[in-house]
Amino acid sequence: MKAVVGFPCALSKNLASHLGYKFIPMDVRAFPDGEVNPRIVLEEIPEEVVLVNTITQSDFNVNRYLVECLFAAKNLADAGVGDVRLVMPYLPYARQDAVFRPGESYSSRYVFELFASLGVKWIFAVTTHMHRHETFLNFVSGINGYNVSGFVPLAHYLKDNFNLHNPFVLGPDGEAGKWASEVAEIVGGESYSLKKKRDRTTGAIKTFGDVTVLEGRDVIIVDDVISTGGTVVAATRKIERAHRIFVAVVHGIFMKGTDMFSGATMVTTNTVENPFSRVDVSAAIAHAIEQVRQ
Ligand code: R5P
Repeated sequence: MKAVVGFPCALSKNLASHLGYKFIPMDVRAFPDGEVNPRIVLEEIPEEVVLVNTITQSDFNVNRYLVECLFAAKNLADAGVGDVRLVMPYLPYARQDAVFRPGESYSSRYVFELFASLGVKWIFAVTTHMHRHETFLNFVSGINGYNVSGFVPLAHYLKDNFNLHNPFVLGPDGEAGKWASEVAEIVGGESYSLKKKRDRTTGAIKTFGDVTVLEGRDVIIVDDVISTGGTVVAATRKIERAHRIFVAVVHGIFMKGTDMFSGATMVTTNTVENPFSRVDVSAAIAHAIEQVRQ
């Protein structure tokens, strides 16, 4: 028997149904002091477990999320499950994918090493910010990583639901350029990326670039994550005379709320459940899990 083990949310239940695996619910008890205890009751030991855990925008705590995943993986290993594949749709600590200043922690590598030490064979994540290890297959020995694109289902959702008019896909900074072209290829139309400078002290964002061809067009701003919202808001200020503005983001964290995006149609995936999670990534994750078997 093969099973998906996870908190009973839409993403994990849908994943089980796409894979044709049994769904076994995981319950996470949270104590008043912040400690957590994942509980997984197995009636028989599955030959393979896809362990999936998600995080929500309304209760966004990456450290607790990481501990939940670590404890759940260890729980399964202790129960005798020999093949655990972990799905963390939002991969915490992905941004620290190098040691940028002497003495810093190499957090993304530590995360992989911790799971490898528990015998986890695979980590599947959705559009991670690991720019230096984009396909993180063999990033750390003993464990494989798979970077599932969240932009493919996002782009199809936009194309299928909004009758897009002459779309123009805009990356709010240089790093988003590749995502903008990925989306443009699916919705049709062209892509362009702005340049961004963030003041390291104040966090203020300045955006540079010339966007003068937007009159009457549907503009789609794409980014991997909205955290404070500063990056996307700065990009929307560059847009004039567009027909409609869409913001298509994989992970909607919205640390400062959502009011600032009122002039645009916001669409995110359900990697971080939030009020704009319109696009389910479970089929894309299931496809990745099936692909690595071949
Ligand atoms: C940065 O390079 C990322 O791709 C996002 O643009 C950034 O994390 C968004 O952060 P914020 O919403 O705080 O501007």
